Amino acid sequence: MQNKTIFIKTFGCQMNEYDSNRIYDSVSKLGFIKTNNQSSADCYILNTCHIRDKAKEKVYHEIGRIKKLFRNKKKPIMVVAGCVAQAENEEMVKREPFIDIVLGPQSYHKVNDLLKKHIENLKQEETEFDTISKFGYFDQIKNNNNKISAFLTIQEGCDKFCSFCVVPFTRGPEYSRPFKKILLEAEQLIQNGVKEITLLGQNVNAYSYKENSKEYRISDLINSLNQYSELERIRYTTSHPRDMTDDLIDCYSLSHKLMPFVHLPIQSGSNRILELMNRKHTVEDFFKVYERLKKINKEIEFSSDFIIGYPGETKRDFEETFKLIKKIKFINSFSFIFSPRPGTKASKLEMIDKNIAKERLILIQDELFKNQVEINKSMENTNISVLVENKLEKQNKLFGRNKYISPVIFDGSVNQVGKTVKVKIQTSNQNTLFGFVNKNMKAA
Ligand code: SAM
Ligand code: SF4
Ligand code: F3S
Repeated sequence: MQNKTIFIKTFGCQMNEYDSNRIYDSVSKLGFIKTNNQSSADCYILNTCHIRDKAKEKVYHEIGRIKKLFRNKKKPIMVVAGCVAQAENEEMVKREPFIDIVLGPQSYHKVNDLLKKHIENLKQEETEFDTISKFGYFDQIKNNNNKISAFLTIQEGCDKFCSFCVVPFTRGPEYSRPFKKILLEAEQLIQNGVKEITLLGQNVNAYSYKENSKEYRISDLINSLNQYSELERIRYTTSHPRDMTDDLIDCYSLSHKLMPFVHLPIQSGSNRILELMNRKHTVEDFFKVYERLKKINKEIEFSSDFIIGYPGETKRDFEETFKLIKKIKFINSFSFIFSPRPGTKASKLEMIDKNIAKERLILIQDELFKNQVEINKSMENTNISVLVENKLEKQNKLFGRNKYISPVIFDGSVNQVGKTVKVKIQTSNQNTLFGFVNKNMKAA
């Protein structure tokens, strides 16, 4: 096949970002070359997310926009991938004939065949749950990601069935990739120049792979990655409070590369709501993990996810969430109003008043943002370690992240990309720290 261009637009979580990169690794074998120019692409992939709001409608809206872009041009091969594709499958092609291929997350290994067949003129839909074949296929294809910081999926799917969540339906049952295959992929990334690896999974700390009567856990992966001298930082996301086992907690004292930052979604500060949500953990369980980690290293900071206005949430439940946020000064967090997802248990429940939910969200976000501003302010006039990721396109500045994953924009030289440098922080806002490389300080 002659070289053709492909544009991939990614919505949703980090796993979708990882998947988009791997899809690209696959289609490049067919001669597709990535383009940033969406209006001239030969193939357009929308990698979609179904977690909240009117996800399906947003996708059709986006396709309407793409149609307009190509009104006077040859139509691209239009692929809808990701979690909306999984949930909607062939319905999508029926409703929107502009779509040529619908590809669920467990069928990405079929992307090359589907594209080849499409060129022979067939409409197609692939939304089987076939996780093993998918990873088996991608294990044969080199991961070409050469960014300084890269994602690496180790586990996919979820068996927990929180009553609000669509993930078990779109990503299927929990599946953990073979331990050695993950390390082989990590080695590829490190050879490409990657300095930071974030292990990914919808329930990343539920990772469990059994071979020759040994069970490998995420702690084994972290301890193995720790041995690669060129790798500087290790992170993982998203973890579930119930799976924060002792071996993982111990990693914080054993691995100096594991960043002292834990994203641990709690969703609510009320045990009553947690039970209704079928979260399988209590506020007290969460605090136990928090306290144990703080005891190992008081520098460890936390972020979390909150759902506000879950059906049945009373003023008192909300106040408990607010109290929790005041107590654990989360370094940053995501908070959302409950959104009923098709097929989930909670979608059948009576919603609380929209305005009350909105008011509560504002209150909670004000408090979360206030923490964020304070924490960032406390870093002003200090020297912090930053892994330099890239030079910003439009500014003569470098971009990197501190150990807590906060973005840092600063003056420095391009040859510092890929290195960990000491940055003197001068100013900050809610999301970002600003400064310059302090040449008088030794890099960490
Ligand atoms: N596996 C993670 C966990 O157990 O917390 C969460 C994964 S989910 C992709 C990311 C976040 O989206 C959740 O933590 C939750 O706060 C939010 N979320 C999921 N379903 C939601 C819904 N129906 N309405 C609002 N927020 C939702
Ligand atoms: Fe969704 Fe709950 Fe599974 Fe997280 S643990 S992915 S919130 S069902
Ligand atoms: Fe969205 Fe699917 Fe991720 S629903 S959050 S893209 S697992």
